[in-house]
Amino acid sequence: MTTLDFLVRRDRLATTELRGTAEIPLTAGQIRLGVDSFALTANNITYAAFGDAMNYWSFYPAPAGWGRIPVWGFATVLESGCPGIAVGERFYGYYPMSSQTVLQPVRLSPAGFFEGAEHRAALHAVYNSYSRCTADPFHTAQTEDVEALLRPLFITSWLIDDFLADQDFFGAGANGDGAVLLSSASSKTAYGTAFQLAQRKGIEVVGLTSAANREFCNSLDCYHRVLAYDELDHLAADTACVFVDFAGNASLRREIHTRFGNLKYSCSVGGTHVGQLGGAKDLPGPRATLFFAPAQIKKRTAEWGAHELGQRLLQAWQAFVVTVCDPAAPWLVVQHHFGPDAVDAAYAAVLGGRGDPRSGHMLSLAPRAPA
Ligand SMILES: NC(=O)c1ccc[n+]([C@@H]2O[C@H](COP(=O)([O-])OP(=O)(O)OC[C@H]3O[C@@H](n4cnc5c(N)ncnc54)[C@H](OP(=O)(O)O)[C@@H]3O)[C@@H](O)[C@H]2O)c1
Repeated sequence: MTTLDFLVRRDRLATTELRGTAEIPLTAGQIRLGVDSFALTANNITYAAFGDAMNYWSFYPAPAGWGRIPVWGFATVLESGCPGIAVGERFYGYYPMSSQTVLQPVRLSPAGFFEGAEHRAALHAVYNSYSRCTADPFHTAQTEDVEALLRPLFITSWLIDDFLADQDFFGAGANGDGAVLLSSASSKTAYGTAFQLAQRKGIEVVGLTSAANREFCNSLDCYHRVLAYDELDHLAADTACVFVDFAGNASLRREIHTRFGNLKYSCSVGGTHVGQLGGAKDLPGPRATLFFAPAQIKKRTAEWGAHELGQRLLQAWQAFVVTVCDPAAPWLVVQHHFGPDAVDAAYAAVLGGRGDPRSGHMLSLAPRAPA
């Protein structure tokens, strides 16, 4: 059988190619998985944009000059040379945009396994962990698409909220009139963060977005206020505030650092505005600081223990899913794309970033949905 790989040029992300390669026989301990479906959001485009700087190209090697973007999704074991993993088992995890992949499971447990291939040994453990769907408390068959689309993003959202609250909003909430400003407020990671922040008292949650996405952000009801990028002057310049940056837009960041003299903290999370990214040197106010989710996980694991942290995350996730999937007013409408041409078109749309923010794209290189 042939494996199909969706490749993108590392230096020109709009250039793509579908390449077929012959299946390689498994070596001892390996498993072959069919990649059933995966989510594609701006987060995956950020993996590609920072592929060299942050090693995202290293997970699934590709021919010189090309990259295979990692995605979150579900895969089924087609062939197993690994005792303890059966053909037909399904796993949630970090896969390539391919029809199949080969993994080398190690540290098996009832919950899942870790990928043990040598080229991934130095990469962060969170990306090397695969969960058995049958044993995963985050998993339900009915919410599988939502899980692929939102789970990895929401965990970051939850940790950002927890980190800011843990730091007393760096003093921005002290008088009850401070604000958290979130750029790319229409993004899934930003609205997950706003969903959590809105449950706290004494801090205004302000969404910043493009004019076209303002209505969408307002409809979510998790932002106390939504402003278009050219409406920063609607917020008093002396507002005590924290900036959580999902857009990575260099000129917006400079504008915020310049306007808000009482900016207490500047937290860099993402880079959705791929065409406007830029350095953060010589900015007025606090240094723009990269959010490092594993550091907050480590801190809470030490303080609460892994079980308690997991339980809190699970509880928050379940509440979030109920809200996001409310049939009367869903935050997310899933769109399925089957086959190489549809995958290519969906990739171009997500890369362009001008689609409906309510859409969540689920992709599969298989030509159609399983019967
Ligand atoms: N550091 C971490 O651990 C971590 C974890 C998760 C996510 N993130 C980052 O958070 C960001 C959001 O990811 P997501 O998957 O939640 O995004 P998403 O839901 O796909 O975001 C869509 C929104 O992003 C903006 N956008 C996307 N592409 C654009 C483009 N080409 N030009 C201009 N605007 C564009 C638009 O928002 P507006 O109109 O509102 O600007 C759009 O509505 C990503 O950069 C991701 O890497 C970081």
